[in-house]
Amino acid sequence: MLSEDLKNRLLLAASKAREQAYAPYSSGFKVGAAVLTEEGEIFSGCNIENASLGATMCAERVAIFEAVSKGHRKIQAVAIVAESPNPVPPCGMCLQVMSEFGQDIGIILANTEGDIELYNIEELLPKSFKFQHLDE
Ligand code: THU
Repeated sequence: MLSEDLKNRLLLAASKAREQAYAPYSSGFKVGAAVLTEEGEIFSGCNIENASLGATMCAERVAIFEAVSKGHRKIQAVAIVAESPNPVPPCGMCLQVMSEFGQDIGIILANTEGDIELYNIEELLPKSFKFQHLDE
């Protein structure tokens, strides 16, 4: 279980990252994410949209890739903040990417109103694709 302090630090980092979101093609749907690594470091990211809509990158993957590109390989938790009536869960592609870097990842969802929901990756993606599935 994550401490309240760590949860708050992750949510703050995700909120700050959200301010940098580049979201002109979704009427400004800004998302921020923050990743807590096994070593206790926090990396963050925002969504970055593109005129070629399929080239858009979600905030979660920007934050995960930031952590991985700095040498981290295990994720403890991910926080996501967006402005929506209810906290938004990560998309399937982001969950699959997360699952590459941890089996027991805590996922903290929040909206800008301060509503918070807590999940585990197992709940949101019970069966992720694993490379060994190719051999089954
Ligand atoms: N988005 C994220 O950043 N994370 C998600 O989990 C879902 C969607 C972004 C992508 C796009 O910029 C905007 O939200 C609308 O889909």
